[in-house]
This record gives sequence, structure tokens and C-alpha cells, in this order.
Amino acid sequence: MRIEGSSALVVGGAGGLGEATVRRLSAAGARVVVADLADDKGKALEAELGVRYVHTDATDEDSVGAAVEEAASMGELRISVDCHGGPASGGRLVGKDGSPLGLAGFRQTIDVYLTGVFNVLRLAAAEIARQAPVGEDGARGVVVNTASIAAFEGQVGQLPYAAAKGGVAAMTLVAARDLSPLGIRVVTVAPGTVLTPAYGKAADQLEAYWGPQVPHPRRMGRPEEYASLVQHLCENDYLNGEVVRLDGALRFPPK
Ligand SMILES: NC(=O)c1ccc[n+]([C@@H]2O[C@H](COP(=O)([O-])OP(=O)(O)OC[C@H]3O[C@@H](n4cnc5c(N)ncnc54)[C@H](O)[C@@H]3O)[C@@H](O)[C@H]2O)c1
Repeated sequence: MRIEGSSALVVGGAGGLGEATVRRLSAAGARVVVADLADDKGKALEAELGVRYVHTDATDEDSVGAAVEEAASMGELRISVDCHGGPASGGRLVGKDGSPLGLAGFRQTIDVYLTGVFNVLRLAAAEIARQAPVGEDGARGVVVNTASIAAFEGQVGQLPYAAAKGGVAAMTLVAARDLSPLGIRVVTVAPGTVLTPAYGKAADQLEAYWGPQVPHPRRMGRPEEYASLVQHLCENDYLNGEVVRLDGALRFPPK
């Protein structure tokens, strides 16, 4: 899919992975809508890059609908990237005191990390489906989701997050199959550990902990490496229905 001249929606575009993606797609000539809850950062990107910021809650139908509408008003929406985050709850399935992991926290994590992704996927795909097919393949566009390697190797205490990310991974092939008659591809990135504000800790502390666990390169990933992969996923029309790990061969241990 040609990035230049297309309209692109980046949900979570004010976050670590999102900002790098917004910068990359914008530099490649897309008209980008940054859809996020972080108004200050979103508006700063708007002022710096000439992108548009729309206050958006990924879990809300009307809110994502408005962001999609804004993206459609800027040109042909052909690219949607979802890399939003949010609060996740965790803990051992049965705690040391014998109490089971909470149902409310599980539901909330699924809401943010799975239902939110589904919401963006379905609304963006419906708008992309309205575009004219291009090229000999009749391609209309591409949707990129973000899972995590926790989808495959969830660590102790991560059950709700791992379940949500596993759901995103599982959605990928069936969504690609569903959307194939429309010429819309669906791909998912499963990052390992990428240095972003999500961890809420100093970079040197994070590198010291995670870096030695990554086989090669022996460091955390950079948001630009995620953004570079997103660009490739957009541009390579034969990548579809796949979950691509971006993790330096890291496999999460149990703890
Ligand atoms: N950073 C990593 O190592 C890593 C690893 C694996 C997976 N991921 C996944 O990548 C995604 C992005 O991670 P990040 O590190 O960039 O996080 P981040 O915290 O830097 O950015 C997340 C962004 O999402 C926004 N957001 C939160 N709730 C939202 C909502 N309901 N609607 C719209 N936007 C919302 C936040 O305001 C923030 O700008 C997450 O889904 C995360 O699980 C990250």
C-alpha cells in the first residue's frame, strides 16, 4: 500500500511506539491523525509535524468513529495502526492469601487491550472498505495491530494482559480472511521489550534489567524499529494475516 498521499490513523499515536510511527508515516508522506487520550502530547505533535490530533478513547465506539471520520476528511483512509496502551491489572491467579485474581481487573484489561483493538480494527476497516481498490491486486488498505510476545509467553502475574494480547494475535488471521474480499490486509506486531514511557522507569534501569535477557541485539528495542516495521507492513502487499515478532529473539521466562 502506498503511504504517500494516503490518510493514516494512529491510535495511541502520542505514546512511545505511536509517536515513532506518527513521525515515520508523516515523513513518508501520509496525512496522519493522532488518536489518543494524551492531549498535551497529541497537540505538541500536531504543532510540530502538521498532523491532526483527535482526543480518542479506543474502547469507545463514538470516540473512535470521530477519529476515523477526521482521518477520512483528510484524504483516503488506507492505513490504520493501533498501538494504544492503558492500565493493565495483574497478579497471581491465586494469591499467597488464597484469594483469586479479581474479575473486575481482568475485565478492564480485556476492555483496553482486546476490545479496544477490535473496536479500532472494525471501524477503521469499514472506512477503508469505502475507498476505491488500487493496483492489479485490488488493494484498499491495511490495518496494523499491536500485540506483545506476552501473547505467547505470558509471565507470572500477567494473565489478563497475556489473555488480551493472545486475543489480538488470534484475531489477526480471521480478520485478514474476513476482509480479503475487500482487499484489506491485517497484520499484527508482537514486540518484546521496547524502551518507551510505558514502563514508568528510567531508561538505564530498564536497559540494565532487560538488555542482558535479549539474545541479540543485547538491548531493548527502539520505538523507531517498531515504526520501521510498521512502514514495511504497510508497503509490502504480500504480508497478511500474520503476527510478526519484534523481539531480538527474546522469549519471556516464567518470571
Ligand atoms: N513498549 C513495549 O515494550 C511493548 C511491548 C509489547 C507490547 N507493547 C504494546 O504496544 C502498545 C504501545 O505501547 P507503548 O510502550 O508505546 O505504551 P505508551 O504508554 O508509551 O503509549 C500508549 C499510548 O496509548 C494511549 N492510550 C491509553 N489508553 C488509551 C485509550 N483508551 N485510547 C486511546 N489511547 C490510549 C496513552 O495515552 C499513550 O499515549 C501497547 O498496546 C503495549 O501493550 C509494548
